[in-house]
Amino acid sequence: MHLTAVTFAICAFATNAQQLSSKLTQVKDFGPNPRNVSMYIYVPKNLAAKPPILVVPHWCHGTAQQAFEYRPYASLGDQYGFISIYPDSPNKADQCWDVSSKETLTHEGGGDALGIVSMARWALQKYSGDKDRVFVTGTSSGAMMTNVLVGSYPDVFAAGSAWAGVPFGCFAGNGFGVWSDPCASGKLIRNGSEWAAIVKNAYPGHTGFRPKLQVLHGTADTVLYPQNFKEEIKQWTSVFGVSETPTHTTMDVPLKGWTRTKYGPNFEAYEAQGVTHDIPNQADLVMEYFDLKCTGNGTVCYSRTSGP
Ligand SMILES: *[C@@H]1O[C@H](CO)[C@@H](O)[C@H](O)[C@H]1NC(C)=O
Ligand SMILES: *[C@@H]1O[C@H](CO)[C@@H](O)[C@H](O)[C@H]1NC(C)=O
Ligand SMILES: *[C@@H]1O[C@H](CO)[C@@H](O)[C@H](O)[C@H]1NC(C)=O
Repeated sequence: MHLTAVTFAICAFATNAQQLSSKLTQVKDFGPNPRNVSMYIYVPKNLAAKPPILVVPHWCHGTAQQAFEYRPYASLGDQYGFISIYPDSPNKADQCWDVSSKETLTHEGGGDALGIVSMARWALQKYSGDKDRVFVTGTSSGAMMTNVLVGSYPDVFAAGSAWAGVPFGCFAGNGFGVWSDPCASGKLIRNGSEWAAIVKNAYPGHTGFRPKLQVLHGTADTVLYPQNFKEEIKQWTSVFGVSETPTHTTMDVPLKGWTRTKYGPNFEAYEAQGVTHDIPNQADLVMEYFDLKCTGNGTVCYSRTSGP
């Protein structure tokens, strides 16, 4: 049942390719990529001097092309000069990301995560990108991969935005395409220190900066049950060493019925009342969180070095 259950409906607008300054292009040979994840990139014509990079992993049964069309990040890239990267899953059975293997859940360990990180590194090099402004956002399997990337590669990403995902390591299992029913159905419960230990074990020597993260989840999600939202909160508050009790709560943001809770400067969570797994992406919110409209010019943009 799990393969069909996780289909993420594409009900939104498609980007009008004619209006873009450039087009989605495939890149081969971009560095270590043991799983053969495919790379697609959108480089706006009017590229910023030191462009930020936004990685957008697709959902299960989705493709790089669909993630490119579904989100407006290419046109926003035209406007603000950042690059967007759309990886494509090598898992042809269901196009879900490898968020289960020991390799992917380990810093420089391999798996889909390393292939995706290689894409970001390649683009940083090729386009003289800003290594302190690399971001990742995705929905469903893309949100799981967002959790994985910020957990396994805290030295690469500046921030993540995960829409209807699960905690880092929740799908951990023996193989690259493992589906975890206990996790998806919200039966995998751990305490904060247990969850945090899984993140820390991904990169045991790491002590420095960790990417800030926002997670968003609908209360009526029956594909990845809302318990996963609670587990993500336990995990990341514990990783950041802050209380599970929010420091700020704001109602009806960015939409009516959504509640934002903040837990110190590095983690925030949006609970979307009555929203199903088909959570409507809010690109403006993501842009604001990543500070991707900031083009410098005298102001300090959010980055790994600016502080949150
Ligand atoms: C990736 O591609 C290479 C070259 O085509 C091939 O040798 C290798 O087996 C592939 N790896 C996987 C995991 O499919
Ligand atoms: C979390 O669980 C572990 C055992 O798995 C236990 O040792 C620890 O005390 C628990 N921590 C809290 C804060 O409950
Ligand atoms: C930079 O900032 C100045 C002063 O705020 C403004 O006049 C100018 O248009 C800006 N340039 C760019 C490229 O945004």
